[in-house]
Amino acid sequence: MESSNAVESKLIFPVASPVVPMPPSRPPTPTAAQSSERVNSPAPGLHVAIISDGNGRWATSRGLPRSAGHRAGAEVARRIIEAAPRLGIHTLTLFALSSANWKRPPAEVNAILRLLHEYLLTETLHCVEEGVRISIIGRRDRVPATLRQAIADSEAATSRGTRLHLRLAIDYSAREAIFHAACRFYKVTELSPESFSRVLAEVYRGGSTEVDLLIRTGGEQRLSDFLLWECAFAEFLFVHKAWPDFTVADIEAALEEFAHRERTRGALPDALAG
Ligand code: FPP
Repeated sequence: MESSNAVESKLIFPVASPVVPMPPSRPPTPTAAQSSERVNSPAPGLHVAIISDGNGRWATSRGLPRSAGHRAGAEVARRIIEAAPRLGIHTLTLFALSSANWKRPPAEVNAILRLLHEYLLTETLHCVEEGVRISIIGRRDRVPATLRQAIADSEAATSRGTRLHLRLAIDYSAREAIFHAACRFYKVTELSPESFSRVLAEVYRGGSTEVDLLIRTGGEQRLSDFLLWECAFAEFLFVHKAWPDFTVADIEAALEEFAHRERTRGALPDALAG
C-alpha cells in the first residue's frame, strides 16, 4: 500500500511468468482443515485478505494519473467481490486505505475515498441481493462525514448477508488496532487470546477472524501493518501483477495453490505425525 519510490525500471510485472501459477484450475473445495480455527466466525469457507498494491505504478507506466490506477483497481475489486462466494470464500478483507496512506498527497487520498464512497452508493443494493454483508474496519473519525454516513447505511442495509462477509479496510492500521485493544483489555476479566480477539474485533468493528490466505499484488513482499494478529497462521502469496491486472482467474490460481499447502500451525506435517 505504500507509495513506492519505484522508478520505471521497477515496473516489471512479468505477465508471462507470475509468481502464482496460472490455471487450469477448478474452484477449490475448502476442507475443514483449510478453514482453520475461527475466532468468532463459525461459518465454513475461507478468509482471504488482499493487499491490492500496484495501482499507482500501473497508471504511471501508462502515462496516466495515479487516480486512474485506483479507478481501475476499484473495478477489479468489484469483479473479485462478485466471484468470491462461488470460489469458497466466506470472508474477504480488502486493504483499501491504510492509515499510513494519509502521508500521500490529499488529492490522491480523496480520490480513493471518493471511489469507496461511490462503491458503497452503487453496490449496496446489489450486495443485499447477493447476500453480501459489508463491514468497514479501521478508523472512521478522519473520513468525510458523508462517507461515514454511507458506511453506516451500507452496514445496516447488508447486515443480514450470509454468503460473503466483505470487510473493507479504510484508514486501517493493525498496530493501532492492537494497541487500542490492549488499552481496553485490562478491564476484561477473562484473559485469553480468544477474549483478546473479541476486544480487537470491537475496536475496529467488522469482526476478527483468522486469515487463511493473504494475497499481495504489485510485487512487494511485506505486510504493511495489515491484519497482524489475524495473519498469525495465514498462508502468504505474493503476485507480481499490479492490482488492476489481477483477474478472477488469478484468484482461482491462488486458491488452487493454497489448496496444496500443508498448514501445520506448528504441529508436524501429517506424513510425520504417525
Ligand atoms: C495501492 O496501490 C492501492 C491503494 C492505496 C488503494 C486501493 C484502493 C482500491 C483498489 C479501491 C477500493 C476498493 C473498492 C471496493 C472500491 P499503490 O497506490 O500503493 O500502488 P503503487 O505501489 O504502485 O504506488
